[in-house]
Amino acid sequence: MANDTLSITDNRTGKTYEVPVEHGTVRAMDLRQIKVDDDDFGLMTYDPGYTNTASCKSRVTFIDGEKGILEYRGYPIADLAEKSSFLEVAYLLLHGELPDKKQSEEWSREITYHTMVHENIKKFIDGFRYDAHPMGMLISSVAALSTYYPEAKQIDDAENRHLQIIRLLGKIPTLAAYAYRHAQGLPYVAPDNDLSYPENFRSMMFRMTESKWQGNKTLERALDVLFILHADHEQNCSASAMRNVGSSHADPYSATAAAAAALYGPLHGGANEAVLRMLNRIGSKKNVPEFIEKVKAGEGRLMGFGHRVYKNYDPRATIIKEMADKVFEETGSNPLLDIALELEQIALNDEYFVSRKLYPNVDFYSGLIYQAMSIPMDMFPVMFAIPRTAGWLSQWQEMLTDRDQKIARPRQIYLGKRGEAYPK
Ligand code: CMC
Repeated sequence: MANDTLSITDNRTGKTYEVPVEHGTVRAMDLRQIKVDDDDFGLMTYDPGYTNTASCKSRVTFIDGEKGILEYRGYPIADLAEKSSFLEVAYLLLHGELPDKKQSEEWSREITYHTMVHENIKKFIDGFRYDAHPMGMLISSVAALSTYYPEAKQIDDAENRHLQIIRLLGKIPTLAAYAYRHAQGLPYVAPDNDLSYPENFRSMMFRMTESKWQGNKTLERALDVLFILHADHEQNCSASAMRNVGSSHADPYSATAAAAAALYGPLHGGANEAVLRMLNRIGSKKNVPEFIEKVKAGEGRLMGFGHRVYKNYDPRATIIKEMADKVFEETGSNPLLDIALELEQIALNDEYFVSRKLYPNVDFYSGLIYQAMSIPMDMFPVMFAIPRTAGWLSQWQEMLTDRDQKIARPRQIYLGKRGEAYPK
């Protein structure tokens, strides 16, 4: 008997089957041969939420949750956050290798020259109510881009794919900033090709009457690092949405809009906002012990703590915490920081949190940094969507060029009625 196989005995029939094991998985379709009789459809697996199902083979992002490891294309996240720019990381995710100097300049130039949006997009955004959520505006305007670039449907053409990828990476910060400006009732600020990717975004967000944006090196780097940390996280809810929608061969703008919609939910891209609301509710450092006791008694969760995958620590949280110190030196401390530090300090020494392996995650400090940068809470999921577009597009491209992939079409266990007589 071959070693890399799994023997399965079906106790319903007494029959034994041998299925290959490859990369620690069995193919779900290999179970279909397991039947009680000829009329039986064959065995399936039941896995709501895909908690133990590999939907693809990927070479983009590696996570080891037990050891607290996150790597993009094999490079540790800490090295990328220290040494790369976000655009270099986007190149890495999409191309599989870090760019050399010339490639980096060309990549950056290409994206910079695709940051403008059609004038009609501004009218489109103007159509939203003054209090529309910026994430709703972003999702809709990304989807609307597909109507401007109908050739984007040619997803099998690598050159065409490249152009749409460049356009999406270039335009997503512009759409995000325009959603914010609309909500503020402020005029839209055109992209400035002399600025870096993060600084151009800050200019489009915050420039008022000054003729040239006065940048800030610390905030520019902090935003770039936040973008790097959020660029990809393998097969999460929004990446899976991107792959699922893309698997029907929809154009990349429609698929990205779907991924952004998945990110919008509070269980995915909304946790950093929940952290700030929690800190506001606690209100003062002296109320922290009482709040912790309530969490331990099951009355709510300590937001920004715990992770489905990371059970040791979230490597992104360590980098963000260091970044927060640098940002607060520049902007002055956020009054909520004292509460956050006290919460962290108590939780990390409390049996309840230690025994459940609950550590600060990426969202515990990111909201505080965004707030220090004057970015309002409802923009937080938008801030997540900007860099994650690079990850979504990398996952999308990998899916399209993977011969194993088909249109996503799960099975169901049907438990409803059958053959009902139509009422007379
Ligand atoms: N505060 C208090 N108790 C917690 C928390 C928390 N934040 N997280 C988990 N627990 C407890 C939970 O009550 C359970 O205890 P018991 O075994 O006594 O019932 C135990 O820890 C295991 O929890 P779980 O719900 O089975 O863990 P999970 O892996 O399903 O949940 C999580 C992961 C992130 C949804 C959860 O930790 C949580 O709700 N955290 C707060 C929300 C948050 O910060 N989310 C951002 C995640 S990072 C963003 C990203 O990477 O996309």
